[in-house]
Amino acid sequence: MGRAGEARAPGKIILIGEHFVVLGAPAVAMAINLYAHAKARPARPGNIEVEADIPLRLLGNNMGGIRRTDSKRLLEPLRLAAIEALAYVGKDRGGISLDIECEIPVGAGLGSSASTTVAVIVAVAQSQAVSLERGETFKIAFGPESYLHGKPSGVDQAACTYGGIITFTKPYVISSLRPKRVPVFLVCDTGIHRSTKGLVSAVVKKSVEEKDSFKNHLEEVEKISQGAVRAIRKEDDEELGLLMNRNQELLVDVGVSHPRLDQLVKAARAHGAVGAKMTGAGGGGCIVALCRDEKARTTMAKALRRQGGTPYMVSMDAVGAVGLDEGRALK
Ligand code: PMV
Repeated sequence: MGRAGEARAPGKIILIGEHFVVLGAPAVAMAINLYAHAKARPARPGNIEVEADIPLRLLGNNMGGIRRTDSKRLLEPLRLAAIEALAYVGKDRGGISLDIECEIPVGAGLGSSASTTVAVIVAVAQSQAVSLERGETFKIAFGPESYLHGKPSGVDQAACTYGGIITFTKPYVISSLRPKRVPVFLVCDTGIHRSTKGLVSAVVKKSVEEKDSFKNHLEEVEKISQGAVRAIRKEDDEELGLLMNRNQELLVDVGVSHPRLDQLVKAARAHGAVGAKMTGAGGGGCIVALCRDEKARTTMAKALRRQGGTPYMVSMDAVGAVGLDEGRALK
């Protein structure tokens, strides 16, 4: 019947290229040290039970159709993740009891849904004594991720699966950067949470209506992503900051920023950010600010808190999704 399986997956921030990645431009993303944990125990055949402690308390009132009381809808992708993982390992008729803990705020652009989905897939496979390749986990995650997101590009689950800093292009060129020095980022949550699906479909619609300007945007984002990769490799924060700022202008232009995001971006720059932008689908959620060093980040965090934001001192998760044995990584 199988044994208990346990896994952990990180959240993520998008450094360059959200939304444009859906339309084919390359994105740069980083896994962060906020995690989802999943435990999968064998249950009666055909029975998938989901118990989840996800930070619904962090849900705002404006979730684009997802209400605080609607947690069942948030749990459905996790049920689907278990079903798809069981089917993948050839146990279509299996039963699983899932226990999930997630420390990533929901609907904030930090990858809570990809991270929980990926953790469930790895834990369910472990429960059937199967260690999945990262590429397999990445592919299985599309089904459950599509439930809330519509047509995800795959960048979220790629970052949560592979860890570190990655570049991602549809359909599925994923490469890891492995920089010698990781830039210092501050993430700050507006507290306004929203659904990715509506924002993505609005941008896709706009891209059809405004073909020419989007063609230019996509070409530019490709250059920005390539430039960001070079800047990270060369440890050139000034250049990376400029590229993040330009990316923010493009995101404002396509209409996915929000006055609170703009306010936090402005405040971050006024308090020493080398560059700052929204991260994720926008419409609320978080900003990411590039800081000169950790001391400058602490000062900036205080300033952004005074502006009503919730700062997160994130660092890079280098490991990605991993099976666990009593809390210790299996590989
Ligand atoms: O759901 P979020 O906020 O992490 O955003 C996902 C990134 C998008 O580019 C907006 C959508 C996608 O599928 O790539």
